[in-house]
Amino acid sequence: MLKTDILIIGSGIAGLTSAVKLAKRFPDHTITILTKANTDETNTKYAQGGIAVVNDLEHDSFGKHIEDTLIAGDGLCNREVVEIVVKEGPARVNEIIDWGTNFDKDKEGDYMRGKEGGHSEFRILHYKDVTGLEIERALVAEAKKYPNIQIHNHWFVVDIITQHHLGYLVTKATPDITCYGVYALNLTNNKIEKILSRVTLMSTGGAGQAYRTTTNPKIATGDGIAMAYRAKGRIENMEFIQFHPTALYEAGVSPSFLITEAVRGDGGILRNKNGEAFMPSYDPRADLAPRDVVARAIDSEMKRTGTEHVYLDCRAMDHEKFQAHFPNIYAKCMSVGINVFEQMIPVAPAAHYCCGGIKVDEMGRSSILNMYACGECSSTGLHGANRLASNSLLEAIVFAHRCAENMAERLDFVQFNDDVPDWNASGTTDPKEMILITQSLKEVQLVMSDYVGIVRNDIRLHRAMRRIDLLHEEMEELYKTATLSPQLCELRNLITIGYLVVKGAQFRKESRGLHFNTDYPNKSELLQQIVL
Ligand code: FAD
Ligand code: SIN
Repeated sequence: MLKTDILIIGSGIAGLTSAVKLAKRFPDHTITILTKANTDETNTKYAQGGIAVVNDLEHDSFGKHIEDTLIAGDGLCNREVVEIVVKEGPARVNEIIDWGTNFDKDKEGDYMRGKEGGHSEFRILHYKDVTGLEIERALVAEAKKYPNIQIHNHWFVVDIITQHHLGYLVTKATPDITCYGVYALNLTNNKIEKILSRVTLMSTGGAGQAYRTTTNPKIATGDGIAMAYRAKGRIENMEFIQFHPTALYEAGVSPSFLITEAVRGDGGILRNKNGEAFMPSYDPRADLAPRDVVARAIDSEMKRTGTEHVYLDCRAMDHEKFQAHFPNIYAKCMSVGINVFEQMIPVAPAAHYCCGGIKVDEMGRSSILNMYACGECSSTGLHGANRLASNSLLEAIVFAHRCAENMAERLDFVQFNDDVPDWNASGTTDPKEMILITQSLKEVQLVMSDYVGIVRNDIRLHRAMRRIDLLHEEMEELYKTATLSPQLCELRNLITIGYLVVKGAQFRKESRGLHFNTDYPNKSELLQQIVL
């Protein structure tokens, strides 16, 4: 058993930023970070393009960034939240710079700014094409300076502890569902431990692994969202799964390597197999239209020409600039035999970002008392029906600050709940066939990719739900009798994510942002947030 004042699940940008802020403020409080892999194995580490921020008011304005975010979000953003994130962003970015994060500067010492789809100005701060790696490096180093932050790697959080574990019936209608901590599988001894906390932050990242083709690393299995749903917390807008238009196409390779949108910002052009630059015929913003538009256009070109990918043409780009800004992409392409100055890069869309998640208010509070959510697992209202490129790192640091502020006010009024029982593992045995878990995982990914991808319709969604119901039934049978393993828990969580995405998609009888259903090709007049 472990007791901690503040429990943070996840060590990406959201978790680490919150931890550092709380550690500075409360040197006498214990802050525990649990992570299921190595500290830096996060979506954050793989971020490429950078962080969108208005910190040059001569050439840009808050108004423009707000407008770009609202346009990308296709009518479903919460305007108040958009204003908060855009206006508080510069102060938060300065903080991570103070903690040692480097962003590229020109010879005069001014920040270099990139541009990506949907942005009307060059406003994306970056560190070459490995911005996330640099941010994660700096945050891990900063967190290590505080003795009251304990990071436990390889602890897999299984479930949130609420009144349910004290024997009460908890339903969605139960008032004041309260989080007392979590049960977590310590992967070094395979024991499930009880961890009691006064406040808990869910910062478990995205769910790209629900799809066969994704840019997300293996850890992105939607655990936090699934746990919150099981604990009867509110989850919203899960139908809005963002597909990144340009992941490197390598048959059978997962996760897919990303080719940042910043390449198109610097002049890269999408072409079909006949060499035609097709984007201008889909949208006047051409290659720099918002992501939903570009991903759908690529999907349509692939179907029209019967190919598994299109091409990104960088041949006419300035070679020196390309190598300076995108050294990692240059090297990766070379390693698979593509010289980007001579050959076009084969690219295809891949599941990339989960716009919905655990519903939180403007201070990051979830519907479960004493539980906050921040980063990709949360749904703040910033992204609406489609996230604007490079807005998620910004959202994470702005909301990490807000969560920390609110926790600071609340912390001293919350007591530990010492009545929570230990985990009961009786009656379970090691599963006889681990292969059943891996097969089911492949099936979920296949169902989601085949029926719940970029273009959907009612028959496909119906088929997907029937298959997910069956997978859920089979998994529950196994879950009741098998000793817990991360694989089984991830399968359980991914099936829940599949269910939430399909359910949200079935409820949304329109096409908006990232959700395109050919049975309802138009927007409904009803501006609806689907909360499950
Ligand atoms: P993560 O960084 O994913 O961290 C999640 C943490 O939770 C990990 O430590 C993980 O181990 C832990 N965890 C998960 N489940 C459990 C569990 N059950 N028990 C214990 N620990 C658990 N956004 C931008 O704004 N700009 C970009 O340029 C950009 N580029 C991207 C490029 C790629 C390839 C990808 C995949 C994403 C990109 N994004 C970008 C999105 C952005 O990187 C993520 O949304 C963001 O980093 C998420 O941060 P996070 O802190 O919420 O979660
Ligand atoms: C990219 O670099 O293209 C990804 C940016 C993002 O996901 O915000």
